[in-house]
Amino acid sequence: MGFAQGFSADEVSEVRHAAQGWIRGTGLAGDAIDDFLVAVHELVINAAIHGGGHGALTLRLGRGILVAEITDRGPGFPGGVPESPALPPAMIAGGRGLALARMFSDAMAIVQKQQGVTAMVTLRVTALQSDAVAPPPRSSV
Ligand SMILES: Nc1ncnc2c1ncn2[C@@H]1O[C@H](COP(=O)(O)OP(=O)(O)O)[C@@H](O)[C@H]1O
Ligand SMILES: [Mg+2]
Repeated sequence: MGFAQGFSADEVSEVRHAAQGWIRGTGLAGDAIDDFLVAVHELVINAAIHGGGHGALTLRLGRGILVAEITDRGPGFPGGVPESPALPPAMIAGGRGLALARMFSDAMAIVQKQQGVTAMVTLRVTALQSDAVAPPPRSSV
């Protein structure tokens, strides 16, 4: 079970909506999922803006884990992949995408390849999955 969609810079909204639809179809929902979509969106935007204008998003739902991978074939990070992305001071515009992606996921890994970047974010969904299949609470009356 998986999702895979290529995108170019003018398709970032489409790919986000498609990803949202696919995740909904798995039965997962809630604030953590909404936040995770922000993380995915920031990485999609980065592929589109910094990664050569095209990318691909894959989503997989394993047992208890949702995995998103965003790849591009761009020039890579100018100064190498940052160790741990930090939020810039409030008055500085931009530069928050990687920090948000890390905040809104349980783990993030960014790999610079010979050509392009692969970014992966994961979310533990065990609790959400068991919620999704839990029987309705028994009425006490
Ligand atoms: N896929 C990518 N390919 C190349 N460089 C990237 C990529 N993603 C991020 N970067 C680099 O990391 C920087 C920080 O990214 P980010 O935190 O999303 O802030 P912003 O996109 O607003 O600059 C970018 O300005 C860019 O230099
Ligand atoms: Mg960005």
